[in-house]
Amino acid sequence: MNKLFGTTPKDLAHAATLLRAGEIVALPTETVYGLACLALNTDAVAKVFAAKNRPANDPLIVHVTDLPAAHTVCLPDKRAVSLAESFWPGPLTFVLPKTDCVPDLVTSGLPTVAVRSPAHPVFREILNLTNAPLAAPSANPFGRVSPTRAEHIMESFGPEHPHIVDGGATDIGIESTVLDLSSSRPRILRPGPIGLKDMAEILGSKPDLHEELLGEPTPENIISPGLLSKHYRPQSPLRIFPDSLALVSFLEQEATLPGTIVLLHAPLEKTLLPANLSILPLSQTGEHNDIAHNLFARLREADACSPPLILCSLLPEEGIARAINDRLRRAAGED
Ligand code: TXA
Ligand code: MG
Repeated sequence: MNKLFGTTPKDLAHAATLLRAGEIVALPTETVYGLACLALNTDAVAKVFAAKNRPANDPLIVHVTDLPAAHTVCLPDKRAVSLAESFWPGPLTFVLPKTDCVPDLVTSGLPTVAVRSPAHPVFREILNLTNAPLAAPSANPFGRVSPTRAEHIMESFGPEHPHIVDGGATDIGIESTVLDLSSSRPRILRPGPIGLKDMAEILGSKPDLHEELLGEPTPENIISPGLLSKHYRPQSPLRIFPDSLALVSFLEQEATLPGTIVLLHAPLEKTLLPANLSILPLSQTGEHNDIAHNLFARLREADACSPPLILCSLLPEEGIARAINDRLRRAAGED
């Protein structure tokens, strides 16, 4: 029977011992929970792919304490060093040329590896105790919403859930920004908490956006399989609208099925809507950081009611809202 650990020194020492023995353990990061294992141990990495039912062509992020530790697994260039000095530890992942010691399984055979230094004190303590790089994809079965609480992991894996260190709700709530630095032009593969403007200040110009270069991702143009639409899919269909006004006018014109749930940015917006609807606010304030913090938990709550439809509007494309919109678009990806 796998265990649910707290965060006492004894708990963390036990979790680190399991990891060092090649087991997998779900750990909190500042973004979402990750399903961690020794990154350089192929058998342990294989367990993570199996537990998540993750296809072998979807590479993992390797987590390290800091830039010197990153040199074990990748070859950071000047851009990576400057960005790491500003944003590590934190929610920014670099895709860089890999070193020989990283197993092909971790990188799905790519010559590059994704690397980040997480800020969460629990994850950092486990990195110190194991004294090894840890691979950790989000701790959800493949294709499902990422977990921001230990309970989410237990819900989605059921009684056979992996070992978990319960560090409470994660702070940021959506996954790290993934920045490809493997070629001359930096490119964002996944928008996240560190935005275009933040990076432009360090790089001197804004990185390219993968989607703007290639249009909607398809199996042919995919570089980062996590960019697949449908990736963050709830069980119930989610329909998104460009803004709140478009959502309100849809509700005025169309009869919604009983049980339909509307995800609002803040409770205040309720005044705009017909009275008989089920409402779930994504935040109390409408602040984008609060919406990001709650987004996956609310999507799960809405989904648990098995509504015929979930409705939500997008935010203006700036800062962390770009990442929120990205996750909502993927969650709404048509079947
Ligand atoms: O915040 C996060 O990044 C969380 C926490 C646990 O650190 N992790 C996370 O991992 O979101 P995961 O596996 O769910 O997403 C990793 C993304 C995937 O889209 C994967 O395809 C991409 O990073 N990726 C990994 N290695 C890559 C590589 N060498 N080239 C391009 N994309 C890569
Ligand atoms: Mg994931």
